[in-house]
Amino acid sequence: MSNEQPGKTLQGALIGCGFFAENQMRAWQDLAGVEIVALCDRDPQRLARFQALFGIEDTFTDAETMFAALSGTLDFVDIATTTQAHATLVPLAARHGAAIICQKPFAGSLETARRLIELCADRGVSLGIHENFRWQRAIRQTIEALRSGEIGRPFFGRISYRSGFDVYRAQPYLAEVERFIIEDLGIHVLDIARALFGEVERLGCETTRVNPEINGEDVATLMLRHEDGVTAVVDCSYATRLADDPFPQSLIEVDGDRGSLRLRQDFKLEIHDAEGRCAVRDVRPEPPAWSESPWFPIQQSVLAFQADWLEAQRLGRSVETRGDDNFNTLALVDAAYRAAATHQIVVPERWGR
Ligand SMILES: NC(=O)c1ccc[n+]([C@@H]2O[C@H](COP(=O)([O-])OP(=O)(O)OC[C@H]3O[C@@H](n4cnc5c(N)ncnc54)[C@H](O)[C@@H]3O)[C@@H](O)[C@H]2O)c1
Repeated sequence: MSNEQPGKTLQGALIGCGFFAENQMRAWQDLAGVEIVALCDRDPQRLARFQALFGIEDTFTDAETMFAALSGTLDFVDIATTTQAHATLVPLAARHGAAIICQKPFAGSLETARRLIELCADRGVSLGIHENFRWQRAIRQTIEALRSGEIGRPFFGRISYRSGFDVYRAQPYLAEVERFIIEDLGIHVLDIARALFGEVERLGCETTRVNPEINGEDVATLMLRHEDGVTAVVDCSYATRLADDPFPQSLIEVDGDRGSLRLRQDFKLEIHDAEGRCAVRDVRPEPPAWSESPWFPIQQSVLAFQADWLEAQRLGRSVETRGDDNFNTLALVDAAYRAAATHQIVVPERWGR
């Protein structure tokens, strides 16, 4: 990243010093023109660990106390807690006029999501959802190849995320939740589907729990009918045993009327044309210095999302995954659970409709 960004350095606070926030902190430290000046976590041990790791003096175990102490000095807040806390933390930040970045899933229900989006809009506060999957280099390149018309008009898509990686080790709460793979991982894959094919008219979904040690579903298969006519399959599994486990890669197939795209494992993007030729592009991400295997594609996307958020702040534009846009991704999650419970095709809610 360039170290010469014009304008004032944006000052922010991080709330939630847990597993994933470490990536967010590393990414902030890689970016010029932004500084995290305060940390908050209700768990003093996690707070102390982040304080030592990142050398930040100002720490708070309570967000309200933090805002009171730093009133008027914070340009933004990066909320990296799990979902439950968002319904309190987003309004609190909005009251203090700080721009908000909030982790996904940004609300536990569509009703809460609607309330938080409207409240931020009323206060003129920007609300960006930390939806990073569409910022993975391989996925971004696939989106761009499709959008630039390389395979013509798409009519079929498949986005597949199948792995046996032990996600419960770093995130033990994932074994406890009643709603697991669609809400935690499927939400990202559904967001990729929206980035590729636009809004969804209707969807069907079936789920299964394979791992008996967990409470929620660890396998989900969805069929989406997009408004522009694409039929897409979104399939997710954390119960798939593979010798060459692709974690955490999403694999993508798109068929268009002038060719096909295949995003294969290990970052190979194939573009097949109507004459039967195939060009293969290397879309491997350039991993940040602090990244590690197998997480590096995700860590690269965290840095890319935050870089784009920063640029958006400077230019006065919104990010792609602002609150009202992300509402439509959250609505697909909601629709998927309704479809799975009823075995019916469901029409998802849509922002502004
Ligand atoms: N985008 C991705 O690729 C990705 C990957 C993993 C996790 N996540 C998301 O990140 C979020 C956090 O996940 P995690 O695994 O880091 O969770 P975590 O439990 O490890 O960390 C959350 C932290 O927030 C703190 N916290 C909770 N409520 C708080 C409050 N009111 N005030 C202050 N601190 C509070 C907790 O004490 C904890 O330290 C989740 O929503 C998860 O879905 C995203």
